[in-house]
Amino acid sequence: MDSDNINVGFIGGGNMSTAIFKGILKSDAHPPSKILVSGPHLENLKYWKEMGANITNINGNVLDTCDIIFLGVKVNKLDDVIRSLLTNNKSIERPITFVSMLAGVKTEKLQKSIKMNYPGIKFSVIRIMPNTPMTVGSGICLYTTDGTVTSSVTTKLLSLLRGSSVLEKVPESYMDSLGALTACGPAYMYLVIEALADGAVKQGVPRAMAMRHAAEMVVGSGQMVLKSGKHPGLLKDEVCSPGGSTICGIAELEDGKLRATLIKAVEASTKKNQELGN
Ligand SMILES: NC(=O)c1ccc[n+]([C@@H]2O[C@H](COP(=O)([O-])OP(=O)(O)OC[C@H]3O[C@@H](n4cnc5c(N)ncnc54)[C@H](OP(=O)(O)O)[C@@H]3O)[C@@H](O)[C@H]2O)c1
Repeated sequence: MDSDNINVGFIGGGNMSTAIFKGILKSDAHPPSKILVSGPHLENLKYWKEMGANITNINGNVLDTCDIIFLGVKVNKLDDVIRSLLTNNKSIERPITFVSMLAGVKTEKLQKSIKMNYPGIKFSVIRIMPNTPMTVGSGICLYTTDGTVTSSVTTKLLSLLRGSSVLEKVPESYMDSLGALTACGPAYMYLVIEALADGAVKQGVPRAMAMRHAAEMVVGSGQMVLKSGKHPGLLKDEVCSPGGSTICGIAELEDGKLRATLIKAVEASTKKNQELGN
């Protein structure tokens, strides 16, 4: 595969597709002139056009011209989208790789649906679970392949995503649960950052300063877990001097059931992912 020569398509150019697109641009992983995005409202694809990508409101144009196609619509639109793919090009000879970011939707379901609608087409499916921090090059992207994906396609896909995320191949059985943590998790953390900043604002710190320091502190704490190799419980103990201020805060967090609540949040998001897939 001449990887710079292939056409990369996106069906649906919303939040998550745009985050991936921005990551591709930022890491110069593929020329925007060889990217085509489709969506029902061209006015919502203005950013893509401004950045040099091609836009269309006909999903079938993406299938007609692209080799790797990201599916970036909401789960409830999937069936309509699959049905809308074929335009005038009834026989497509080249192999297509569909890259689905749809929460909960299993590779097997996608394969069946594509096969049923387009029996002649040669295709493979890669399922990814990206997250929006990919926009700024600090994302996580889980992926799993259907076993028919060639190594050159996987290599190209990884090159598209590598500049914006830590990539990890995981068994499909982890996509809903680990995916809940990595893809929904940023929203949990924004809440934490906002609330911590509120705490400092309550003590008289200016809002912008509080927010910036809360975010930096969360980044630094994550780096400590990753780089020190120490268990987070031990790192917590190292901050808590006996009778000190940190342990007083920790006691409040325990009283508010922070840990139990976070565990329940991941569980609730996992269940919702599973429901969406059904
Ligand atoms: N957001 C995340 O953090 C995240 C993380 C991981 C996975 N995902 C998955 O990514 C997918 C998209 O989520 P999102 O948050 O990006 O949603 P979103 O911002 O609502 O984007 C959905 C896009 O699909 C377009 N669309 C609607 N109907 C269409 C059709 N028939 N054909 C082509 N495009 C169509 C919409 O266009 P208009 O706006 O013009 O109607 C919109 O641009 C979901 O399946 C979600 O599970 C999201």
